[in-house]
Amino acid sequence: MPIYPDSFKTEVAEKNSIEDVISEYVVLSKRSGTNRFGLCPFHNEKTPSFSVSPSRQFFHCFGCGKGGDVVTFIMEIEGLTYPEALEFLARRANIPIPVADNDAETKKRARMYALNKDAARYFYEKLRSPEGEAGRRYIASRKISAATATNFGLGYAPDSWTSLYDAMRAKGYSELEMLDADLIRKGKNGGFYDTFRNRLVFPVIDTTGKVIGFSGRILGDGEPKYLNTKETLVFNKGRNLFGLNLAKKSKAGYIILVEGNVDVVSLHQAGFDSAVASLGTSFTDEQARLISRYTDEVVLAYDSDGAGLKAAQRGIGILEKLNVKVKVLRWEGAKDPDDFIKLKGPGAFRNLIENSESQIDYRLLNIKNKYDLSIAEQKVDYLKECTRLVAEFPGNVERQVYAIRVAEIAGVGQEAVIKEVEDQRKRLLRGARARTEREIRPEKLAQPAERDLRYDNPESAVAEEGVVRLLFLEPSLAGKTREKLESDDFTSEALKHLYTVILSRIDEHRALSLSLLGDELSGAEMSLLVNVISKPETLSSASDTIDDYILKIKERNGRDSSFSDLKGLADKMKNKGKGYK
Ligand code: GTP
Ligand code: MN
Repeated sequence: MPIYPDSFKTEVAEKNSIEDVISEYVVLSKRSGTNRFGLCPFHNEKTPSFSVSPSRQFFHCFGCGKGGDVVTFIMEIEGLTYPEALEFLARRANIPIPVADNDAETKKRARMYALNKDAARYFYEKLRSPEGEAGRRYIASRKISAATATNFGLGYAPDSWTSLYDAMRAKGYSELEMLDADLIRKGKNGGFYDTFRNRLVFPVIDTTGKVIGFSGRILGDGEPKYLNTKETLVFNKGRNLFGLNLAKKSKAGYIILVEGNVDVVSLHQAGFDSAVASLGTSFTDEQARLISRYTDEVVLAYDSDGAGLKAAQRGIGILEKLNVKVKVLRWEGAKDPDDFIKLKGPGAFRNLIENSESQIDYRLLNIKNKYDLSIAEQKVDYLKECTRLVAEFPGNVERQVYAIRVAEIAGVGQEAVIKEVEDQRKRLLRGARARTEREIRPEKLAQPAERDLRYDNPESAVAEEGVVRLLFLEPSLAGKTREKLESDDFTSEALKHLYTVILSRIDEHRALSLSLLGDELSGAEMSLLVNVISKPETLSSASDTIDDYILKIKERNGRDSSFSDLKGLADKMKNKGKGYK
């Protein structure tokens, strides 16, 4: 990962005004007072709570708590890493991106991207030339329109041994470069031949728009059906997804994960523009992490055969670990989504997605598969788990229907199961009510808006926030603050990290601005920092105020450490007395 100098980061921030950049994505109100408002692009809302501060060059959403500078905004909305977002904005403002001259690998990579792009263009043109007749016929037979083919940059590799080789040689690429990119391979007699011949070519494009490799499908039947670029300096199958470059822009709110390239193309054509496929490998943790950068809901639409079912199970496990919600589509009478759409139409596919019933069945089926229902104890466990699930359904009828189904599967009386579901339901509602009441208690209000962060000690955290805010606004306070306050005095890990990052930047006499902190802070920490520095603070008596904050932190900690052990012990004893387990 490239590490860019502060001067570059500053220039990027200066030449990309946050108002202008965000206006390309969000309709912003006229300036009223100091801020401009709009509908937050990061969560669904009807009234604008997303604010942009042109003077301080940051954005902040009062609804979902996201916030940051212009680079953070681009990271979030385009789903890029920090350096990628810097490069994106540099290109936008025509700022040259610094490349370390001695970095041979960076250069090699850049050459490979260029070669891949030229090769993609070559295949693309061939598909539209007289030579591409066979490719066009195949595309038509798969009902892929010309517009869809263009949208995906589909191409055709001619039925020839060296046509790409010749074309790329003429453009100045060496044999070695082509071999490294897996665009040509070495024959037994020592000669070179094109890797992709007489195939429909799908360029694989990463989320920053670079061509990283290719999938070539045979025109019709034959082996191998697909030929994929092998691992290269820029192509790692397990770390990329076919179609994500397009799907990341979708407004669907979920990503549809399918098995085949043709399924992706076909779904996009039918209006499902958030479909992606893994590149002929089984789904990996890295792909799941990549997806979780864009969405928290995945619709699995794997082939309806045994292998697809197995793959779906695997996918569910990986995605749920990352807190991504998973819906599984099941259908009959079609082998894959492409087939399904052709037979039943896009409307029917949308029904599959929206009809959560199939997902419920699927989950019930999964539970059933865990137990041997011929063993009494396992049957009880099965019933317990199923009734807990069914109790969560909001609709009365829905609950009853599924309670009956569960009873039938287990071969027990319906009434008992229905009653158990309703009892579970009551317990669930009681729990929810208690949670709501807890949520309006004051210490809850002091919690950060970022979902991933929590303050264990909200009262101390308020003061810790104050220290971070004042240091950020008034770095001259760093010296005395360090003397009085150790980072271990912080009760919040996130605020402690902000504190140490800010202090060390001040120590190194480096400038302190949001735009320079992007690679040291996580997205949640950046949001937190923006929230913290947006809260009102008077700077006139900053030195006294920070003393108060420090005192409060020390006090809180002192009291807590002497009492917490005793209090914990007392709680435990109380609970024992009540017979809690
Ligand atoms: P069709 O619907 O039959 O045109 O194919 P598809 O695009 O839906 O692909 P399919 O479901 O058959 O296969 C899923 C994925 O597995 C493909 O997109 C490829 O990435 C990969 N794959 C399939 N066949 C092969 C093969 O023969 N070799 C390799 N390396 N990968 C393959
Ligand atoms: Mn298919």
